[in-house]
Amino acid sequence: MKYLVANWKSNKTIPEATLWLHQSSIISHQSSKNLEVIIAAPFTALPHLKKVSSSLKLAAQNLSPFDSGPYTGEISAEMLKNLVDYTIIGHSERRRYFQETNEMVAKKVKQALKYKITPIVCLDEPYLETQIQQFNNSTIRHLIFAYEPLAAIGSGKPDTPENANRVAEKIKKMTNQAPVLYGGSVSPENAKSFMVEKNIDGLLVGNASLNPGEFIKILQAIRLIEQ
Ligand code: PGA
Repeated sequence: MKYLVANWKSNKTIPEATLWLHQSSIISHQSSKNLEVIIAAPFTALPHLKKVSSSLKLAAQNLSPFDSGPYTGEISAEMLKNLVDYTIIGHSERRRYFQETNEMVAKKVKQALKYKITPIVCLDEPYLETQIQQFNNSTIRHLIFAYEPLAAIGSGKPDTPENANRVAEKIKKMTNQAPVLYGGSVSPENAKSFMVEKNIDGLLVGNASLNPGEFIKILQAIRLIEQ
């Protein structure tokens, strides 16, 4: 299975999310047997997107490390079950601006799996071992990983496909062949060059996913390889 994930980050009001859906006509382009297209929208837009199309694959961008309870401001995995199929966990922006630690990432992964939400766990090369060590083999079987080099995120300076493939191979070796996505300045122009690499199973797209036309171009580039 290949994956294409739109990570909208902290962007898009409900009307903007609706407009994106119409402009991208994503509903008619949706997931196929070999490609899962996933929209990681802000919490506020998720119920709305689900209402517009119940078959749309959605992801949260984060969730609470705790069960539902007295944790003001947190969204628990239980609240997200039946709404999302996936959740991004441990994105470098969360590690950087919200002091998310590997221990917290592990707790969030546990919560997600408890409610049958598949975690997409973000990793970066200098820390691969400590970041992956948090998970035992029975947990790893249920995870998707995303290699997201810090310097490439939002910079317009993607990693080279060759290097991304090398790191993805390393992650696969350490995780008994878990799926590995690449994220960091993916664009319609470079999407294909990453997807043709043997160890890259998909793309996590930030900036370019905000524009419906750009995102569909990335999707089309991937579909061309599939054929
Ligand atoms: P970018 O973000 O595509 O804007 O570089 C990727 C990400 O942070 O997931």
